Amino acid sequence: MDARKFRNALGKFPTGVVVVTARMPSGELIGMTMSSFNSVSLDPPLILFSIHRNAHSFAAWQSVSRYAVNVLNEDQEQVSNQFARPNGNKWEGLTILTGKYGAPMLPNAGVVFECENYAQYDGGDHGIFVGRVEALHEHAFTYQRPLVFFEGRYRQLAGAATAHTPPPEAELLHGW
Ligand SMILES: Cc1cc2nc3c(=O)[nH]c(=O)nc-3n(C[C@H](O)[C@H](O)[C@H](O)COP(=O)(O)O)c2cc1C
Repeated sequence: MDARKFRNALGKFPTGVVVVTARMPSGELIGMTMSSFNSVSLDPPLILFSIHRNAHSFAAWQSVSRYAVNVLNEDQEQVSNQFARPNGNKWEGLTILTGKYGAPMLPNAGVVFECENYAQYDGGDHGIFVGRVEALHEHAFTYQRPLVFFEGRYRQLAGAATAHTPPPEAELLHGW
C-alpha cells in the first residue's frame, strides 16, 4: 500500500488535538501533541493514545507512571505547535498546573484527564499507551470549543446551530 495514500486516508477521520504531559522521576517535564487519543472503556475508565517509536521522548513515556491528557481548545493552535516540535523548550511561557495526583497540566485546556499508566502494547512503528483515568479537571465557567484536526489542518467546529443529536436508540448501544 502506498504510504502517502494511507496517511491521507487516515486524515479523513477528524479528531481533536491533545497534549499529553508528564513529569519524569528526575523532575524533567515531557509533553507531546497527539491526535491519536481515544476512549477505550467506561468501567474501568480507560483511554488510549499512540506514540511513534522514533519520538525523542519515547523511552521516557514508557517509564512514566502518571500523565495528563489535555484536550486543546480552538484558540490553542500555538500550544499544539509548541508541543509538536522535537527541539526547543516545549514548556516556554506556560504556567504549569499540578493535578490531584501530581501530573503536570496545561492551563486553559478544555478538559484534562489525569491518568495512571494501565498498559502498553506494541503498535507497529508506534507504541499504544492505555491510561486509567484517576481524575477529571474541567473548566466550569465557560463553554469552549475544541481544536479539530482534519486532512492535516487545524479546523474549527461550526456553530452549535448545525449540531444534531444521534437518534435515541444510539443511547442504548454500549451505554453511550
Ligand atoms: C496535530 C498533531 C497530532 C499529532 N499526533 C501524534 C500522535 O498521535 N502520535 C505521535 O507519536 N506523534 C504525533 N504528532 C507528532 C508529535 O507531536 C511530534 O513528533 C513531537 O515533536 C514528538 O516529540 P519528541 O520527539 O520531542 O518526543 C502530532 C503532531 C501534530 C501537530
